[in-house]
Amino acid sequence: MILLTGGAGYIGAHTAHYLVKEGIMPSDIVVFDNLVYGHESHLPKGVFFIKGDILNRDEIISAFKIHKISSVIHFAAYAYVGESMQNPYKYFHNNITGGLNLLETMKDFGCKYIVFSSTCAVYGIPNHIPITENETIKPINPYGESKAVFERLMRWYDEIYGMRFVSLRYFNASGADFGIGEAHDPETHLIPLAIRAVVSEDYTLNVFGDDYDTPDGTCIRDYVHVTDLADAHMKALQYLKDGRPSDCFNIGTSRGNSVKEIIDIIKDVCGKTPKYKISKRREGDPPRLIADSKKAQEILGWLPKKNIFDVVSSAYEWHKTNLEGVMR
Ligand SMILES: NC(=O)c1ccc[n+]([C@@H]2O[C@H](COP(=O)([O-])OP(=O)(O)OC[C@H]3O[C@@H](n4cnc5c(N)ncnc54)[C@H](O)[C@@H]3O)[C@@H](O)[C@H]2O)c1
Repeated sequence: MILLTGGAGYIGAHTAHYLVKEGIMPSDIVVFDNLVYGHESHLPKGVFFIKGDILNRDEIISAFKIHKISSVIHFAAYAYVGESMQNPYKYFHNNITGGLNLLETMKDFGCKYIVFSSTCAVYGIPNHIPITENETIKPINPYGESKAVFERLMRWYDEIYGMRFVSLRYFNASGADFGIGEAHDPETHLIPLAIRAVVSEDYTLNVFGDDYDTPDGTCIRDYVHVTDLADAHMKALQYLKDGRPSDCFNIGTSRGNSVKEIIDIIKDVCGKTPKYKISKRREGDPPRLIADSKKAQEILGWLPKKNIFDVVSSAYEWHKTNLEGVMR
């Protein structure tokens, strides 16, 4: 069975649906989530759900006792960069201590494969664009640091216990599929917030800085569709089961869009310009983050199929009928 920690969250729930669509029996999937941010209602029918916390080792042990878990996809984490600067302990505790509880339990139960939700935030402000996996790891916030530390912990569990891992360093996950979507509370991601600025009379999107060294002055990010991300997890699991070595892969489209370009695409898709205002830069926002995903393409055989219009239109389709997802 496959254990999805944090599997009731945005990317986890999409991955659960994708695995089922690709032929994995729902009864072979166990989702373990404390529901601080997840939604049990977003899960596909027939998967096992355990309300549990990775900070509580007994709860993880109990999941491994009930189910014969052979591999883990580890999504559970806190993921708000800004909050991590206010409260680093919260991030180090959940993302590192919680993750360590998971690794130790996996070791005790002889579970050898883990796919980990890492992030381009491990690179901080990169020296080269597009970013390859050889870029220096130098996070600029506790969130990115917590992910970089966990990657190092996994290396030692591999070295000492032969527990192999794939670390997927996601760029900006976005879009919607399977009748579910992005419903973070609070929401901090550009696309849902820009859609909020279309559908809500009293919300104005903040564009943080228009004086960056980019063609239109706004920051450029690599938006990867959540279903393409889900596919990367399936391919990573297969890679591990094929006996291949532990490794890290960037998961992005290798294309970037500026904030202003996203606003224009939203206008085209929704037929209305999101209300926005230019605010001052946020500390620590790199001007450009674009993946070089050649390694994932060559080694995992992963290729993103969806483009930025698919991302925005799928997000809009979901949000316009699920307004609670953006009206927080
Ligand atoms: N969304 C992105 O663009 C993005 C980019 C890079 C990396 N990531 C990483 O991907 C993963 C999933 O992100 P997401 O956007 O789906 O976030 P999310 O908040 O929707 O999902 C995380 C899930 O983990 C659960 N969780 C948190 N702490 C837990 C704990 N102690 N025990 C059990 N469950 C716990 C939450 O309830 C939530 O359901 C995270 O690890 C995040 O750091 C996300």
